[in-house]
Amino acid sequence: MIIAIDGPAGSGKSTTAREAARRLGFHHVDSGAFYRALTWAALEAGIAPERFAMLSEAELDDFGVRAEPEGNGFRMFAGGRDVEPHIREAAVTASVSAMARVARVRTWLNRRLRDAASRADVVVDGRDIGTVVFPDADLKIFLVAHPETRARRRLAEWGIIAPSSDAVAAEVERLLERDRADSEREVAPLVRAADAEEIDTSLLDFEEQVERVVSLARARGAVASAGSRGGRVPPRG
Ligand code: CDP
Repeated sequence: MIIAIDGPAGSGKSTTAREAARRLGFHHVDSGAFYRALTWAALEAGIAPERFAMLSEAELDDFGVRAEPEGNGFRMFAGGRDVEPHIREAAVTASVSAMARVARVRTWLNRRLRDAASRADVVVDGRDIGTVVFPDADLKIFLVAHPETRARRRLAEWGIIAPSSDAVAAEVERLLERDRADSEREVAPLVRAADAEEIDTSLLDFEEQVERVVSLARARGAVASAGSRGGRVPPRG
């Protein structure tokens, strides 16, 4: 079974996907973490974002980006190094859209996502999961939230619990800029699938949004752990 969760930056996709997967006994695949790990590896190799579009398949392979199983999710590695502590840094976030708009990168990565889903029941989150990667997903969710809510959640993730209004405004700007880049790109833009269930999380707490996803999944036939097709195998790169 495949559950696709898409939505804009900071809408809570990854945290919701991970916890919903845990409750369902599914495996969580965070496609954004792959785009981030590739971006980190390219920057680390001294490749400027303007040159991301020139990366060949062989160069993408050479970054050695792969996912090691951890609980019902995974940790990202690049060239044998644990990059999980780095992939959400501001420099990576600022350049990841440049990586994500390259068609060759998306093809390379989508192969890994489809491979993961062929080996386990999965909750996959991203921008194009229900539209491009898994158009026949059993359940598609589109998460949205008010930009200020998304900015405050993002700042809270970084430990900033009572941000100034300037800090919130600056984060709203960064999120909207990334939404714009993700929605306006030519390849696999961020768009809601016609058959996706939209959940506005602005007024929901975390428990409520996870339960919405879990109950929709159960309504589509997800059975905790019994639905697994034999193991929780994450994508390998
Ligand atoms: O967690 P956050 O909302 O900040 O983003 P993410 O899920 O980690 O994704 C980072 C970036 O990767 C996005 O801004 C997109 O540019 C790109 N992405 C994508 O293009 N397609 C996906 N399926 C997932 C991520």
